[in-house]
Amino acid sequence: MRLLNKVALVTGAAQGIGKAIAELFLKEGATVIFSDINDEKGQCACDEINITRQQWRESKPAEYIHLDVSSEDDWKNAAEYITQHYHRLDILVNNAGITGFLETSGAHDPEHLDMASWHKVHQVNLDGVALGCKTAIALMKNRPTQKGSNASIVNISSRSGMVGIPLATAYASSKAGVRNHSKSVALYCAQNSYGIRCNSIHPAAIYTPMWDAMLGEGDAREEAIKAISKDIPLGYMGDVMDVAYAALYLASDESKYVTGTELTIDGGILAGSTAAPTQ
Ligand SMILES: NC(=O)c1ccc[n+]([C@@H]2O[C@H](COP(=O)([O-])OP(=O)(O)OC[C@H]3O[C@@H](n4cnc5c(N)ncnc54)[C@H](O)[C@@H]3O)[C@@H](O)[C@H]2O)c1
Repeated sequence: MRLLNKVALVTGAAQGIGKAIAELFLKEGATVIFSDINDEKGQCACDEINITRQQWRESKPAEYIHLDVSSEDDWKNAAEYITQHYHRLDILVNNAGITGFLETSGAHDPEHLDMASWHKVHQVNLDGVALGCKTAIALMKNRPTQKGSNASIVNISSRSGMVGIPLATAYASSKAGVRNHSKSVALYCAQNSYGIRCNSIHPAAIYTPMWDAMLGEGDAREEAIKAISKDIPLGYMGDVMDVAYAALYLASDESKYVTGTELTIDGGILAGSTAAPTQ
């Protein structure tokens, strides 16, 4: 019950990392608002957990709302809904994100870059986080505060926000923006004594549907996973719970003195460098 009595909003919660975070937060006692653009999957994810939870808790612990993170109008509607129904927001996880490989048709390398594709990826990954932080600050700054219990914004960036990714420049640039914006939000909220913390998480090689297009099918998929795993110091791809537990720590009061920081969840990928001496 590490999140008891807290109200949390998770974006991109229909599948993958967002779904795992939303489910874990529920298990830890929070009331969770799942949100996504994939309404069918998002509603399903939320219903699954409500059925098991209602066996022991009367009130509805989770619900689903439509929220396209790149739309300012959607964020305004979400804010109105949360204010009306919950009167507070304690946790926001800005998780929704796209690589752009499926969602856009243009080139993503620096030489042939298609600007429409570049903008689409930034609209979701970076504008989405900026709008989420803006909305959350307005909702969170007036919430009743208790000593040692801050509101928390958790932004899901990526290892790609820390290193160059030549064939996914829009993704890498947008995630670098998320990393930096998280620190600006953290300092701004601290300077204004809003009682809001903001941190970023930097996952890498977490096995989710996001990898589907990159891994292929059948035997090819097995081979692709093996090839990726060879470059991961721990030797295997991570799973969604690896990221969910990090989000839980940053969302809970256990991290009450932590703001503006970044947490890599990457099996050790960013711990070393290439061309290192072997002897
Ligand atoms: N899987 C990884 O290895 C990995 C690594 C680094 C960072 N991340 C980041 O973690 C987050 C979650 O990734 P995942 O692997 O679970 O991806 P995923 O593709 O499995 O899930 C992403 C979810 O976001 C939703 N979404 C897409 N566009 C949206 C929009 N405009 N508004 C609201 N929701 C939208 C999708 O419908 C989907 O449910 C992303 O921000 C991603 O960049 C993932």
